[in-house]
Amino acid sequence: MADSGFVPKIVYALCAWCGSGGSETAGAYWLKYPENVRPFRVMCTGALDPAYVLRALIEGADGVVVSGCHPGDCHYNIGNFRARRRIAVMKTILDTFGIDGDRLWLRWVAHGEGKKLADTASEFSEHIKAKGENPLKRWDT
Ligand code: FES
Repeated sequence: MADSGFVPKIVYALCAWCGSGGSETAGAYWLKYPENVRPFRVMCTGALDPAYVLRALIEGADGVVVSGCHPGDCHYNIGNFRARRRIAVMKTILDTFGIDGDRLWLRWVAHGEGKKLADTASEFSEHIKAKGENPLKRWDT
């Protein structure tokens, strides 16, 4: 299949502990992930307001991926469980509005899992590339 040239805009939310730690580990080992993946930090995945995810998609992101501590490892005890529930609901809402809930992923990443973080970023970027542009962009004309 020919390359369409589409480079998706990906927002990657990382919790300040394991998610960001995984990013630091990836950096320490010089592991690369695509430049179109833009990480940002939140204290905990449980502190990620769903409005941030929706805002990212409304403002032009093609996909949002969230990584935080594995279940049982959250530094705020149950934040990642809250995130898991919220993201499940957000995926349903995105599906309902025809945006496709699979443009939002949640993946657990531990501090030492730099390779998993880099692989997740690359895999998600390819996944969104295959899906194409966020349909909300078409409403922007
Ligand atoms: Fe990492 Fe809560 S601190 S998910």
